[in-house]
Amino acid sequence: MANKGFTLWFTGLSGSGKSTIAERVALKLEKKGVPVEILDGDVVRTHLSKGLGFSHEDRDENIKRVGFVCQLLSRHGVAVIASVISPYRQARDYNREKIKNFVEVYTLCPVEVCEGRDLKGLYQKARAGEIKGFTGVDDPYEPPLKPEVTCKTDVESVEESVNKVIRKLEELGYLPA
Ligand code: ADX
Repeated sequence: MANKGFTLWFTGLSGSGKSTIAERVALKLEKKGVPVEILDGDVVRTHLSKGLGFSHEDRDENIKRVGFVCQLLSRHGVAVIASVISPYRQARDYNREKIKNFVEVYTLCPVEVCEGRDLKGLYQKARAGEIKGFTGVDDPYEPPLKPEVTCKTDVESVEESVNKVIRKLEELGYLPA
């Protein structure tokens, strides 16, 4: 049977665990023989969204472009995994409307914990005023109201979060149980 394409849309603060969980989920899906494509914010912004900045308008444009690719790929049976902060609810909901089989995964983690991790040293730069408009520091993040999955990454292990996502995909009938 052909794969049912779907989009896993990871949203959350920088350092909240989006990409870590996304990559582990991707590995699991690949092992099951599902074709997977990851669209990661940091990578997308060097190609598809090159030249866009971090204003509200540019972030929304970035999210629309990523959503457009999700739509194209998922309708051909690909499991598309988007990993982008996507701080604005309206832009995420726009994609939810446009994209069939849209599954929102919220990586919920207190900003202090993300900041403590500071994997890329960006929170430190934001606090020092070297980066302006950094999400969670001096730019907004609007949490999803009804995400399909919430991963509380400050208290759950990566494995637990990954399993939650896989279980939801099975429950929704996008993966054989
Ligand atoms: S989004 O807001 O448009 O969804 P996206 O996920 O593509 O953002 O890119 C976020 C990445 O860009 C962060 O992980 C970080 O590495 C980098 N970045 C640079 N400036 C900012 C900023 N002002 N706010 C958030 N992330 C930033």
